Amino acid sequence: MAISTTVQATLQRYREEIQAALREAVARATASTGAEASGLLQDYYGQMRYHLGWVDAQLHPINAQTGKLLRPTLLLLSYEAAGAWGQLPPGDEPRHYLQRALPAAAAIELTHNFTLIHDDIVDEDSERHHRPTVWKLWGVPHAINAGDGMFALSRLALWGLLEIGVDPALAARLAALLDRTCLTIAEGQYLDMLFERRMDVSVEAYIEMIRRKTAALMACAAEMGALLGTQDAETVERLRHFGEAIGLAFQVRDDVLGVWASLDELGKNPAGDIYRRKKSLPILHALAQAQPADRERLQILYQQSAPLSREEVDEILAIFARTETRSYCQAFLAEQCRRARAALDAVPASSTSLAKRARSDLEAFVAFIEAASQN
Ligand code: IPE
Ligand code: IPE
Ligand code: MG
Ligand code: MG
Repeated sequence: MAISTTVQATLQRYREEIQAALREAVARATASTGAEASGLLQDYYGQMRYHLGWVDAQLHPINAQTGKLLRPTLLLLSYEAAGAWGQLPPGDEPRHYLQRALPAAAAIELTHNFTLIHDDIVDEDSERHHRPTVWKLWGVPHAINAGDGMFALSRLALWGLLEIGVDPALAARLAALLDRTCLTIAEGQYLDMLFERRMDVSVEAYIEMIRRKTAALMACAAEMGALLGTQDAETVERLRHFGEAIGLAFQVRDDVLGVWASLDELGKNPAGDIYRRKKSLPILHALAQAQPADRERLQILYQQSAPLSREEVDEILAIFARTETRSYCQAFLAEQCRRARAALDAVPASSTSLAKRARSDLEAFVAFIEAASQN
């Protein structure tokens, strides 16, 4: 998926520091358990390193560009926008001030990735980032265990805050926030699995599900960055709202692209989510809004097990057109982007150039997410 050059440049700016923090978190954890010295556990951590794009399936070092690092970048921008605890230098360098937020940035990315390892098992997905998934290579039991290990690694990474002198009470607050977020994500995954088997899911219930499954971690990233950056509770709350709104928008953007993106935009089959009968926002909206005959037809097509033909997919798209489902999804996305901008506008302006740049980068994230709806 093409990412706008502005957003790409922002993601690139912190990439090296985030990657170094991730590697350090893994190295310190394996040193602390004695795994590094044992020699028997290389393949276990190899599975995690593989998922993170550091080694290939034979565990030989590579540098695969896998995750976009969206969440840790959001955390660092939120930290800068909140004032970075008064440590921001006037210009772009030096970047020592970033150190304070890097353990949390590593923790958020490890949390995201542990959920992806488990999510690929749940969704029976054989590929992620055009590479075989962990369960596909090593089997489901090992993938569950690799995900569990990465969950613990993410918490250990966060406790690294104590070693760089962050107030223990603040570190404990962040740890509780991360734990609560992990629970919220698991709730979202539960609802997602439940909804896949039902035809009576309301749009409201779906939004509740994605708020937990996807938006909670973005909200957590923005809140953590803000908590490390300022003591002002309102700023923290506003940046948390910002994260939640773009999290909801990000998921619905995925839903819109999954149905209406062209081959060029997506690099994969148009209407892929219809072929997969994914219970995303478009189908739930159409089911709720369709006339009885159309609703019955959708129910039949989504409940039968035979693969959908091209003609049947066109039939579904025609029903989506009659229910004005695309406009509804676009309006939902636009509303979340409006909420995100309003939250950001309410963050007190800072005089430093880095805080200003962080705000404009966060605005660029919103613009990038919103652009999907305008195609
Ligand atoms: C994937 O998130 C999971 C969703 C919430 C759709 P990303 O698209 O941010 O995944 P990576 O980290 O870049 O792989
Ligand atoms: C991923 O959700 C969200 C979590 C792992 C919590 P999805 O299953 O919708 O996303 P992809 O398509 O696998 O990235
Ligand atoms: Mg999945
Ligand atoms: Mg899933």
